[in-house]
Amino acid sequence: MRGQKIVVLTAYDTPMAEFVDQAGVDEVLVGDSLGMAVLGYSSTRFVTMDEMMHHVKAVRRGVKRALLVADMPYRSYRTPAIAYRNATRFVKEGGCEAVKLEGGREILPVIRFLRKKRIPVQGHLGLLPQSVLPGRPFRLQAKDLHSARRLIEDASFLEKEGAFSVVLESIPREVARIVTKRLRIPTIGIGAGPDCDGQVLVVNDLLGLFTKFKPRFVKSYALLAPKIERAVRNYRQDVLKGRFPSRRHAFQMNPETLRHLRRLLDND
Ligand code: KIV
Repeated sequence: MRGQKIVVLTAYDTPMAEFVDQAGVDEVLVGDSLGMAVLGYSSTRFVTMDEMMHHVKAVRRGVKRALLVADMPYRSYRTPAIAYRNATRFVKEGGCEAVKLEGGREILPVIRFLRKKRIPVQGHLGLLPQSVLPGRPFRLQAKDLHSARRLIEDASFLEKEGAFSVVLESIPREVARIVTKRLRIPTIGIGAGPDCDGQVLVVNDLLGLFTKFKPRFVKSYALLAPKIERAVRNYRQDVLKGRFPSRRHAFQMNPETLRHLRRLLDND
């Protein structure tokens, strides 16, 4: 570990971005996890550029101090020119400081082009959710000799092409440790053990808002889902039983004005 750990968290809307930013995280990532955490998709593959833009702009309005990074969605960086067009939207229209892309050696020409155009790039290796077909499970990566070596090489390629950091997702902690030792740029782990330079979590997982499944690497610091459901049930009961709105939630008219109003209506 070099220096203080880097703390990264996702956000998808303005209020959450404000909470996350004010709590002091270093980077706010508008992940394409948006698709599964917020938009109800079964895969991040269905997230579009327009959907990402909508949420990036909302998060921008809430982030005042952290680095703001936008995840490039599936197929939005399939060629260097397409990647540049979309990354420019994130930076110019969305106000992001950087973009994140999933992949290793196969996307080096894209990273090279974005760097030439001075767009900062965060890499992402290991489990690449955009490469998982909808309905298929997310699995541990780089667990055999060949794939571990390939990932370690890919991490060096990303660094050489000018990525400022690399996310390592769902890989054995030993592999993450080797990568972290070999790179000068910081590694940000998610399911990659404790030895990365930083950590990232999906905010909905951290808050216990996403309950469909919970990967082993997630730590929930709150369990908001049942609390929200209980609050809504209580509201429903109060409305049904006439307990809400009560007198103190209602606005009263000035009695004199009300008297005048009644007189006027009686004369109509
Ligand atoms: O989409 C996302 O939120 C991510 C993080 C989990 C790294 O890519």
